[in-house]
Amino acid sequence: MPAIVLVGAQWGDEGKGKATDLMGTDVDYVVKFNGGNNAGHTVVIEGEDGTREKYALHLLPSGILTPTVTPVIGNGVVVDLEVLFQELDGLEARGVDTSKLVVSANAHVIAPYNRTLDKVTERFLGKRKIGTTGRGIGPTYADKMNRVGIRVQDLFDEGILRQKVEAALGFKNQVLVKIYNTRAVDVDLVVEELLGYAERLRPMVADSALVLEEALNAGQNVLLEAGQATLLDVDHGTYPFVTSSSATAGGACTGSGIPPTRVSRVIAILKAYTTRVGEGPFPTELFDDDGETLRKTGAEYGTTTGRPRRCGWMDTVIGRYATRVNGVTDFVITKLDVLTGFEKVPVCVAYEVDGVRHDEMPVSQSDFHHAKPVYEMLDGWWEDISGCREFDELPAAAQAYVLRVEELIGARVSAIGVGPGRHEIIQRHPLLDA
Ligand code: GDP
Ligand code: IMO
Ligand code: MG
Repeated sequence: MPAIVLVGAQWGDEGKGKATDLMGTDVDYVVKFNGGNNAGHTVVIEGEDGTREKYALHLLPSGILTPTVTPVIGNGVVVDLEVLFQELDGLEARGVDTSKLVVSANAHVIAPYNRTLDKVTERFLGKRKIGTTGRGIGPTYADKMNRVGIRVQDLFDEGILRQKVEAALGFKNQVLVKIYNTRAVDVDLVVEELLGYAERLRPMVADSALVLEEALNAGQNVLLEAGQATLLDVDHGTYPFVTSSSATAGGACTGSGIPPTRVSRVIAILKAYTTRVGEGPFPTELFDDDGETLRKTGAEYGTTTGRPRRCGWMDTVIGRYATRVNGVTDFVITKLDVLTGFEKVPVCVAYEVDGVRHDEMPVSQSDFHHAKPVYEMLDGWWEDISGCREFDELPAAAQAYVLRVEELIGARVSAIGVGPGRHEIIQRHPLLDA
């Protein structure tokens, strides 16, 4: 069976966790291939009696909530081991079986000094800060590229681990003391902390690329789940206001070891409006009551940091860009229910930059910063749509909204979210090949 990639189309928090969960028992493996505990996925599961259980996942792939799924932390992920065990303990305490988790031996570890460096670097940047989650993501990927990173496999060889920590801290301690004016980090303490995780971690560690290759050869379905999203991708996003990993479909291959020839579908999750956490340009951002309404109705507060998310209208220039960069075959539009109750729903179809119309993402960062949205005004609707399960049950204006967006983004909309719950979805086309 082929591999399927699932990515975010905008700036994150589109509902990737819910979409992964939706595929439930149809997939056998769910692989997180990039990022770390900067991600925050909320999955809401309805009980038979109408109760709702909410799970907030950061480091673990959302597939962990489905008992038949083997969750995998791929080589492209950066792992905070303290957070990993906290999250596993939290799920176990709620009765979720986490025993099948596989962690790549090649995944990098977020060392404690990189959390410190993330925070002090942001402080040092002042007005020019990125607005990171402060989880040590950027410095850990920088170490990886700089070839001074610590990998999961290093925890099983104390001599090697010590050498690597010493090598990393030789330079970093100079920076911490001489530039940032903070205290040096003690090598022994870091080594001791990391070794403390080794025994519990050992049974989970594997050559995950080989595990996945064998699964695919055995006809199993593998879902590669992105953290973050297209515009937060370090290459294709709104650099420098991005995360430090490859969150687009290409990253799914390097971050898991699955070759591109095995990927048959790319599913992108697109929120019916746009949100962003942290700094950086955002052409359709709203600063008025409509923005506040979207934030309140959509509960747009970060799962990871609790920060209010910046909110704005749907931007189909971004949608088209996501289609192009990821090779999207299917879109899932989420949170259509949140748009209920507006007289008119504006959709951004192009930008205007200094009097010039741009139908595609401007090539220069300055142009994107100055981009003014060109809106098409679509009719709103007032009916509660959370109970709709078929496309033609939606009010005509909501149908027209989806169809117009579909036309503008250039790939089919296969499912539509109408509420946070697992079953609050309209399925138009199957997300998996039969
Ligand atoms: P992720 O990071 O892409 O997994 O998304 P988050 O979990 O950070 O944010 C998405 C939020 O929207 C979560 O709280 C979900 O429960 C919620 N959600 C997902 N789909 C829908 C939907 O169709 N309607 C509504 N109202 N909420 C949704
Ligand atoms: P999910 O997977 C939204 C943003 C941060 C910041 C920038 C860099 O839930 O969609 P980092 O800590 O990664 O170095 O921060 O990226 N960011 C996210 N925004 N959703 C996320 O993940 C994010 N992960 C990082 O707010 O602007
Ligand atoms: Mg999120």
